[in-house]
Amino acid sequence: MKHFLKETDFKAAELPKLFATAHTLKRTRGRAGSPKPLAGQTWALIFSKSSTRTRVSFEVGIHELGGNAIFLNKNDIQMGRGETVEDTAKVLSRFVHGLVVRTFDHSDVERLAAAGTVPVVNALTDFLHPCQIYTDAFTMAERWAKGKTGKALVDSLRGRKIAFLGDTACNMAYSWILGASLFGMKISLAGPKAFAPGPELDALLAAEGRKKEYHFTTDPLEAVRDADVVYTDVWVSMGKEEETKERIRTMSPYAVTGKVFAGAKRDALFMHCLPAHAGEEVSQEVLDNPRSIIFDQAENRLHTQKAILCALQAARKK
Ligand code: CP
Ligand code: NVA
Repeated sequence: MKHFLKETDFKAAELPKLFATAHTLKRTRGRAGSPKPLAGQTWALIFSKSSTRTRVSFEVGIHELGGNAIFLNKNDIQMGRGETVEDTAKVLSRFVHGLVVRTFDHSDVERLAAAGTVPVVNALTDFLHPCQIYTDAFTMAERWAKGKTGKALVDSLRGRKIAFLGDTACNMAYSWILGASLFGMKISLAGPKAFAPGPELDALLAAEGRKKEYHFTTDPLEAVRDADVVYTDVWVSMGKEEETKERIRTMSPYAVTGKVFAGAKRDALFMHCLPAHAGEEVSQEVLDNPRSIIFDQAENRLHTQKAILCALQAARKK
């Protein structure tokens, strides 16, 4: 059974088709006769954390592909009262055709995938957020290979540099490090030493047979130099609220201000997975910059995730 728990669950050779599907689904959205590969299926969304983009884009996307989505807050099901992840996976596999899961511990999605008999999609864990990275990569490629599709989109990413500022030990940073390796991009991260990428990331790269090619610095201007994309994320990820004061204090030198953004390439893009906290990790001026593509990113969650669901469905038929 094919799952999507991390960026490398699709091989590089599978990406052109996936991007071409996203491109077509975007262009033809709402047209009569659009493909319904999930017809007759029900997918369960199990969420232990808040969500605007991920929840809505999956619910809409599953519906548009002909399927039915049911949203389960973890606390509304028995898992919230201690039923094991494994039993939950086995029971839900008897009812539904796939699971989309947002949780804290990354091992939860791995255990659901191992115990169940339906595809599992990682909709964000404390460790990785692969749906966001595929969407981001597609969104960049749309700019860099305008009007093109498939391989040309994927090829447009190779050799580009992304600068990631702020919490460089969060799920978005780790996912982008793995994603950069998959897409052949360079990545430079800047943040406080206390929030530098940790050994768990190096263990993941080693397990995936990937070289440790990312660059970490405490100097934000060094990270953004020659960058094609400046990327940031919230300083206080879901579940880290108790550390709010300390995080804001140590990460404030890494805010993406107009000055920091100006240190990147002249045509650099600004990206953020959202939600954003204007005045913290990014200034309102940068959010409003014409080169900020944050709402294209948000929209593309729908098209890219639909392409991921199509690919998982195609893999199931083989
Ligand atoms: N970027 C993202 O995953 O947003 P949500 O938390 O709103 O789903
Ligand atoms: N790092 C953030 C991403 C939100 C989409 C979090 O985990 O809260």
